[in-house]
Amino acid sequence: MAVQRVLVTGAGGFIGHHLVKFLKDKGYWVRGVDIKEPEYEASAADEFYVLDLRVPESCDVAVTGMQDIYHLAADMGGIGYITSSHAGITLNNTKINVHMIDAARKFGVERFLFSSSACIYPQYLQKEADVTPLKEDDAFPADPEEGYGLEKLYMEKLCQYFTEDYGFETRVVRFHNVYGSLGTYDGGREKAPAAICRKVALSQDGGEIEIWGDGLQTRSFMHVDDCVEGIYRIMQSGYHLPLNLGTDELISVDGLVDLVSDIAGKRLVKRHDTSRPQGVRGRNSNNSRLREVLGWEPRITLAEGLVPTYHWIAKELEAPAKAPMAAAAVAAE
Ligand code: NAD
Ligand code: GDD
Repeated sequence: MAVQRVLVTGAGGFIGHHLVKFLKDKGYWVRGVDIKEPEYEASAADEFYVLDLRVPESCDVAVTGMQDIYHLAADMGGIGYITSSHAGITLNNTKINVHMIDAARKFGVERFLFSSSACIYPQYLQKEADVTPLKEDDAFPADPEEGYGLEKLYMEKLCQYFTEDYGFETRVVRFHNVYGSLGTYDGGREKAPAAICRKVALSQDGGEIEIWGDGLQTRSFMHVDDCVEGIYRIMQSGYHLPLNLGTDELISVDGLVDLVSDIAGKRLVKRHDTSRPQGVRGRNSNNSRLREVLGWEPRITLAEGLVPTYHWIAKELEAPAKAPMAAAAVAAE
């Protein structure tokens, strides 16, 4: 059988970069596309195109000759970033997504997987730290995260319409907060696990660490190895309705800080800053449908997954060029 040719968009980013490696290990021929090269190591893709996918003609180039598309490119970051510019983020992601799905169908792509987000879920269901895990059917009546979440929900519906009206094969995956090595840990787009690892790594034992919010807000966090395996399994499934992809291991932000501090072997004093962005009060994934469809769910515990993540970030920060910049960033936050 001929080797299958697949496209990963966002291949210069965190999950896309890991997904390219995963697909190469499975024997696929992979094209990676991104507006930038991967930051921390070279891409394993057979070919890597630097393209701006907001531009329709770039999407045409990206999809040509491809059978499956894992569409991960997005203007994206942690809660600080996605609440910083609703207009710009919504506009960029709208352009990327509508042009990509349109090009994929026009050029005869067989399957198209869209990386959605837990940010599509209604905010009115996420007001308590002790949150009821979110199930796929909770998405409507809608009240998503402004900008980024609203656009993801719109694109989910566009995937549904393409399937219903054109018979175009789509997959919609709602990621819950993903962490791991080779992910952004500074610069403003970092999410809580990487930000906390960075802050702990840069703190002296016995010192103080700044935490956004009162630390009692809750999340579930998924290791990137589980994420790419889940993405792959969902693509192979015949399932075209939205699916959660996350763990259901709920933990407070203070709990996350304690885990990282233990790994680092540091005792730190927490200083909570409630003026910083906090997002929803609590968020967890209900994995019933995922288990039903795949017979599988993410299995790496946060305590396990944070060990390599922390050590990778701590090592990165030891690099001579990075340390002063990172120390200045932590002081500014
Ligand atoms: P990331 O920012 O590391 O990767 C996204 C990539 O998209 C980046 O490399 C970026 O350069 C690229 N990109 C942005 N604009 C582009 C453009 N105009 N043209 C081409 N490429 C462009 O983020 P990630 O964590 O790897 O996320 C991947 C996908 O998963 C995104 O769609 C994101 O919304 C979704 N997601 C991620 C998480 C998470 O916790 N990481 C959670 C929910 C959803
Ligand atoms: N980023 C960050 N940095 N968050 C911190 C920090 C810090 O130094 N300290 C505490 N937090 C808290 C935030 O206030 C928030 O309450 C919680 O940690 C989680 O923050 P993030 O990881 O930045 O984002 P999120 O979980 O609210 O949303 C993320 O996950 C979604 C999917 O589940 C974002 O990355 C979204 O873009 C993504 O779609």
